[in-house]
Amino acid sequence: MKILGIDTSCDDTSVAVVEDGKHILSNVISSQFDLHEKYGGIVPELASRKHVESINYIIDHALAESEVSFQDLEAIAVTNRPGLIGALLIGVSAAKSLAFCHNLPLIGINHVEGHVYANFMQHDELTFPHICLTVSGGHTLLLKVNKGWTYKILGSTIDDAAGEAYDKVAQYLGLGFPGGRIIDDMAKKGDEKAIDFPRPLINRDDYNFSFSGLKTSVRYFVEKAQAAGNLPPLENIAASFQAAVVDVLVKKTIRAAQEYQVKSINLTGGVAANSRLRHNLRKTADEHNMHVFHPSIKLCTDNAAMVAGIAYQKYQQGQRDKLDLNASANSDLGQ
Ligand code: KG4
Ligand code: ZN
Repeated sequence: MKILGIDTSCDDTSVAVVEDGKHILSNVISSQFDLHEKYGGIVPELASRKHVESINYIIDHALAESEVSFQDLEAIAVTNRPGLIGALLIGVSAAKSLAFCHNLPLIGINHVEGHVYANFMQHDELTFPHICLTVSGGHTLLLKVNKGWTYKILGSTIDDAAGEAYDKVAQYLGLGFPGGRIIDDMAKKGDEKAIDFPRPLINRDDYNFSFSGLKTSVRYFVEKAQAAGNLPPLENIAASFQAAVVDVLVKKTIRAAQEYQVKSINLTGGVAANSRLRHNLRKTADEHNMHVFHPSIKLCTDNAAMVAGIAYQKYQQGQRDKLDLNASANSDLGQ
């Protein structure tokens, strides 16, 4: 069964064709980095306008690459929540038009559920229940994922998402946007012990996260060091900041897996591309006889293959949406 998936939840226009929830026939992603870079972050209005320009070309491209025509498709899936509302509406409108014109079922997808699902497309061994750490530019969530795609939310960020903190810190350091990959690369050349940044909430026995204070600590540190004329190499700041973020994420994730007695950990979302997070989580998990799964980089960051993938599972569960499907900026998993 072939499903066409669309994701326009943030700054990437992505369309994919996926067969039976796993086989990716195409996964086209048109990034808007260049458009937003000079602003140091995503400008929602510009993102929406760019989606309007691109969406039909990206749909065409995804169909051509997969060598699939509308007659071969059995459903249209679209991220309709959560995300930037204007951006979401472009994808939802396109998906509704396609479903209507080609008389295909329409399936609205929660973007975060797409990230959670991404690992299943590449790892048959990932079993239920498991602990999932979803870390992206918009979300930092720790979940227990049960069979049948039901979720227990263990914790989330009380302020900035992990990826947001990466992007803002990169902005303070004048490194460009999006900052995650740039800091990750720089940190490899730096000393992670150079600066002792705080590890927010690391010893609290709940599963919530907070990255706003850490971000501000980096900012104050840089301002003070600049004023005193003794700014250390940016590589050291990047490495020390990254060490603080990763320590908190790893500690809470492993503790959740211990408390819920699960052996599998699903690491996903844009920040799951981070080399230190992957390495440290896997190393600590090994010490506890647990196993970490993460998707390839292309499936970590925003993409429509994960949307078409989870849509297959939802279709099997009977989900069909009507043509009045709307977009929503906020949404909890399970809603
Ligand atoms: O999942 P995603 O593509 O979009 C959202 O749903 O937010 O995640 C984008 C986020 C950005 O904040 C970006 O800086 C971060 O993922 N990111 C990384 C890395 N690659 C992307 N953060 C840390 N290390 C990376 N290697
Ligand atoms: Zn995302």
